[in-house]
Amino acid sequence: MTRDEETWQLVRAVDRMELVAPRSTGALRLSLSLRQGAMARRLAGARPSDALPRAIGLHRRAPPTVFDATAGLARDAMVLARLGCQVTAVERVPVLAFLVHEAARSASFAARLSVLVGDARDLLPKAAPPPQVVYLDPMFEHDSSAQVKQEMQVCRLLAGGADDAGELFAIARQIASQRVVVKRHARQDPLAEPRSFVIDGERVRFDVYLTAP
Ligand SMILES: C[S@@+](CC[C@H](N)C(=O)[O-])C[C@H]1O[C@@H](n2cnc3c(N)ncnc32)[C@H](O)[C@@H]1O
Repeated sequence: MTRDEETWQLVRAVDRMELVAPRSTGALRLSLSLRQGAMARRLAGARPSDALPRAIGLHRRAPPTVFDATAGLARDAMVLARLGCQVTAVERVPVLAFLVHEAARSASFAARLSVLVGDARDLLPKAAPPPQVVYLDPMFEHDSSAQVKQEMQVCRLLAGGADDAGELFAIARQIASQRVVVKRHARQDPLAEPRSFVIDGERVRFDVYLTAP
């Protein structure tokens, strides 16, 4: 069977689903595999002492419940689920959520990861009980990784580039019972000041806003 190269296509490869954009938009390809490649290595090497889990508060206490309001391909969400957090990951682009669902359904941490399609601005206030931690990773322009660049282009094509980070952050601060964690590029301004503390990672940093009294 031949593929219509002018439409969006979901292609089943041997070990994963692949999303292929129309040729007129550059035939971008996006896929997620937990069996091989960067994500497999990241999951295998994940430690509570890494920057993201430390920002979430994982190294000090029992794994918290986490609401990832900007799931994308849920790589961060999967690391947290793999390290024991119960994670609700929300993505507004349905096909990205589908790629995550397909990749994660047979993972060892599948029972700790719920993938929801929708706008986190609507779903977060309805979370019951409220999550202990809300995690935000708004898209940023300066990311140099080729895969994240492709992902951003696909997201823009499918969902538009609407920047709702400020709005999400305001809601997150009201709902999170322990903290809000925002991933930023190392050179990017914080979403808000004052921050409770900052954890530096490679090329990125995590701004932490404690919400518990
Ligand atoms: C930079 S990506 C997140 C990457 C993710 N942290 C990972 O590890 O793969 C940001 C994602 O947030 C999603 N997004 C932005 N605003 C949203 C909202 N209000 N509700 C749900 N998803 C949203 C975008 O569609 C995009 O896929």
